[in-house]
Amino acid sequence: MLGKVTTTIDRILCTGCGLCVQVCPAKTLSMRNGKAEVTGDRSLNCGHCQAICPEGAVNVDAIDETMSQFINFEPDKNWLRYGDFDTAQLVRLMASRRSCRNFLPKPVDRSILDDLVKIGCTAPSGTNCQLWTFTILPTREAVMALGKGIRSFYVKLNAMAENRLLRLFLKLIGKPELDTYYREYYESVREGLAKFDRSSIDRLFHGAPAAIVVGCKTKATLPKEDALLASQNILLAAHSMGLGSCLIGMAVEPMKRDARLQKTIGIPDDEKVYTVIALGYPAENYQRTAGSKKSVVRSFEPW
Ligand SMILES: Cc1cc2nc3c(=O)[nH]c(=O)nc-3n(C[C@H](O)[C@H](O)[C@H](O)COP(=O)(O)O)c2cc1C
Ligand code: SF4
Repeated sequence: MLGKVTTTIDRILCTGCGLCVQVCPAKTLSMRNGKAEVTGDRSLNCGHCQAICPEGAVNVDAIDETMSQFINFEPDKNWLRYGDFDTAQLVRLMASRRSCRNFLPKPVDRSILDDLVKIGCTAPSGTNCQLWTFTILPTREAVMALGKGIRSFYVKLNAMAENRLLRLFLKLIGKPELDTYYREYYESVREGLAKFDRSSIDRLFHGAPAAIVVGCKTKATLPKEDALLASQNILLAAHSMGLGSCLIGMAVEPMKRDARLQKTIGIPDDEKVYTVIALGYPAENYQRTAGSKKSVVRSFEPW
């Protein structure tokens, strides 16, 4: 999203190498009289110019330094060169992340949740708008406050789905969703609700002591994609920090369908929720990675 230019260039430090002009995606900078200058009136404020300048002559004020400061670790601010990382270890991290469905009743330190949000924000975003939003549910009580609203949603939905005539009528007028829900989810949701009511077994959040709800402002260029990319960063980092995680789609759907639900955890109308990430210390450890199913992979080459 193009916005106000906040880039400044120190003319004394600038040696005129032209790199910042070369990498600027918005053509905000140009070379004038052998020096780089801000000539455009709009900027993505992406910081490519600041990151590439060998002389440290460029500053982008819109970039918030505190977003790169973490509490639980010190990141290396030197740019990692292409090819300079152990791919085998990266793949090991990716393949070792599994959905955790048994969390220990041990709280997660707030500082870890705050760090995870900042890690989420290192993801790419459409036109660099970074309009994703993170709602931290830092305690089991906060997670369950959302759970209460979700529970009411499913109680009502299951009551509707039990009505055979309603399912049939909706199907006849081209709305088969309730019938599909009845066939695919009704029974397991009914069981989950009963287990929770009978013995407080939490089949929705799996007993998670914390969660991060990732949304995005609706005016973002590609809100869903941005929120999902930030979420994947959080999932991988959570594993590296000793936490288990699980995406809870069963909590996202009700928030999409009933706007009042997101309000119960303070999310305003101009945002949409895309993921709920349950977080906590895992009750089990795995022995090995399991691999993936076969996917459709094709290549296309013109004649
Ligand atoms: C969009 C999405 C929604 C999901 N929703 C749920 C959910 O509501 N409850 C749950 O236990 N797991 C949920 N999962 C976890 C998937 O079941 C899990 O990722 C999949 O079985 C693969 O296992 P893995 O994550 O351990 O690799 C969801 C995953 C995705 C990507
Ligand atoms: S990258 Fe730095 S030194 Fe090179 S032209 Fe831009 S401001 Fe000047």
